[in-house]
Amino acid sequence: MSTMRRTHQRRLPTVVNTLLRRPPVPVPGCGTSGHGAGILGWVLPAVPLSDGEVVLRAWRPADAAWYAATARDRQIQRWTSEPADLTADAVRDAIDRMHRTGSHAGLAILDAGTGALLGNAALSLSQHDPNTGEISYWLGPAARGRGAAARAVRLLVDWAWQCGLHRVKLFTHIDNVASQRVAEAAGLIRERVVPSYRTIKGETWTAVIYGLHRSHRPAEPPIGT
Ligand SMILES: CC(C)(COP(=O)(O)OP(=O)(O)OC[C@H]1O[C@@H](n2cnc3c(N)ncnc32)[C@H](O)[C@@H]1OP(=O)(O)O)[C@@H](O)C(=O)NCCC(=O)NCCS
Repeated sequence: MSTMRRTHQRRLPTVVNTLLRRPPVPVPGCGTSGHGAGILGWVLPAVPLSDGEVVLRAWRPADAAWYAATARDRQIQRWTSEPADLTADAVRDAIDRMHRTGSHAGLAILDAGTGALLGNAALSLSQHDPNTGEISYWLGPAARGRGAAARAVRLLVDWAWQCGLHRVKLFTHIDNVASQRVAEAAGLIRERVVPSYRTIKGETWTAVIYGLHRSHRPAEPPIGT
């Protein structure tokens, strides 16, 4: 699963050691998740993040069937690393592992009004720089076209700063225009195009990299403007 990054877990000791040497960050929402401290338990938000329109909260085992079914959507398959054969059991295992290890923050995006599940937003630490958070996201088909992903990314970015990260980044396939619009609407800066950035499901991607340093974050990001 793109957001239940198994590959990161093999590299966790380096990240963990770096984080454990950090002074604690005294910000509500960066504490332990309430599901057990885990190795990087501070990574999960202690309270849901919300802007009044969408809510982000940690994925729960009960969400697994929805996640697996939604991830089969053609657009999600085309533009993310979600496996085509993802099962609810595999998702449940990944959610359980995330809560135990605190490897990353895999968050459900919900409609703040109805509580309906809309999609997925995740923040994980860069393998190369523990001060950098990597963002990924998708929405179920019914949730698209109303700015929910950009709202979710803004919430993740704000939370990343609160947790002490210095930089956030994300990448999209060069042809994924909708995702690039989301990144820009959330205030990230288009930094560069990288040929052969990564091979995903057998396809070598030319990627557009977006990033933002905390010192460059605009005071009023351009959502709804
Ligand atoms: C990417 C995704 C989250 C965006 O969903 P969304 O927030 O509802 O975005 P929208 O459908 O409103 O599209 C965002 C913008 O791109 C525009 N857009 C969408 N498809 C487009 C296309 N093919 N060409 C040009 N513009 C396009 C929309 O008009 C919209 O413009 P606006 O910001 O001016 O309103 C959603 O399409 C998705 O889940 N896709 C599959 C998974 C995915 O790509 N994840 C990101 C991986 S990096």
